[in-house]
Amino acid sequence: MTAVPSAQVKHLVMMATRAPSVHNTQPWHLTPTVSGMLLSRDRTRQLHAIDPGGRELLLSCGALLHHLQVAARALGIDALISLDLRGDAVATVELSQGHDATPAEIDAAVAILHRHTSRGRFDDSDVSAADLQRLDRAVEGQGGMLRVVRADELTGVEVLLSRAERALHQVDGYDDELSRWVWHDGDDERGDGMPPDAVDHGAGRAESLAGREFDGPLPRPEEPPLPERPTVVLLCSLGDAPADWVQSGRALSALLLAATQAGLLAQPLGQVIDLPASRLALTQLLGTVGSPQMLLRIGHGTSRPVTPRRPVADVLTPS
Ligand SMILES: Cc1cc2nc3c(=O)[nH]c(=O)nc-3n(C[C@H](O)[C@H](O)[C@H](O)COP(=O)(O)O)c2cc1C
Repeated sequence: MTAVPSAQVKHLVMMATRAPSVHNTQPWHLTPTVSGMLLSRDRTRQLHAIDPGGRELLLSCGALLHHLQVAARALGIDALISLDLRGDAVATVELSQGHDATPAEIDAAVAILHRHTSRGRFDDSDVSAADLQRLDRAVEGQGGMLRVVRADELTGVEVLLSRAERALHQVDGYDDELSRWVWHDGDDERGDGMPPDAVDHGAGRAESLAGREFDGPLPRPEEPPLPERPTVVLLCSLGDAPADWVQSGRALSALLLAATQAGLLAQPLGQVIDLPASRLALTQLLGTVGSPQMLLRIGHGTSRPVTPRRPVADVLTPS
């Protein structure tokens, strides 16, 4: 029997499901077990147009696993994760009482409540070398690799981003899929998908390094954009099999929580990795070792969490 009371299990699920997921699809399901939980993928929430192989689905599930582990540690609970990628299963999580949480472990869990994707304008202060080292360590701790995109590579990356955006709109079902996950009038009660505030890139956002067009072309700023100084980073994995995707999701979560703790905001620029051709072009442009899993702009600015989550009772259900 798990020594963890069910109220704590529910709290852990609430914290874990704060994890980022592609288009806020939350493609996961948890089943209580005698000693913890089983994480399964919910393929009804898979993005078949851009993610037929389920890479982004498993990245999302990996992010949930890392969030769960961080939240558990803050309660003095150890969450032992074993991958089990058979059928819809992703991993088993064994929960057991461990040592008391350290202040650093509690801080890491608090970051879960503040982390969110920011698509607005960043300000013009640089990400410090010390903060970049911190992000690097967080990613390495989960077996990932972080490659900082140099200033002289940014134009090439921009070109790939805008080509990728155009190519995606030619993919059968891409626009319908976006429309399923971006809120329309009357969607206010939804516990998933992307509300208007989440897809709004806000005033003053430079057009450089354009984010995904969730809701039609991004508006052209009327005024010249104010300077922004985000750092662009590429998260890579050594392998590119389903287990690597889950592990990359854990690394992505570690990166984002470390960024939050450092007072940094992050925006995935995933459109350049969705399609095999642009993913390959990015690999060649940057000469990366390993497989790109997520490109992000990271920087300073202000914004707040705006995406909803499904209730715990919808996610954690007996088999
Ligand atoms: C695998 C993956 C891919 C994502 N791709 C993009 C993307 O291309 N563009 C973007 O703006 N956000 C992207 N996101 C961020 C999600 O849209 C975001 O996590 C989700 O809407 C929940 O919002 P939150 O991060 O603010 O909690 C991605 C997240 C994950 C995990």
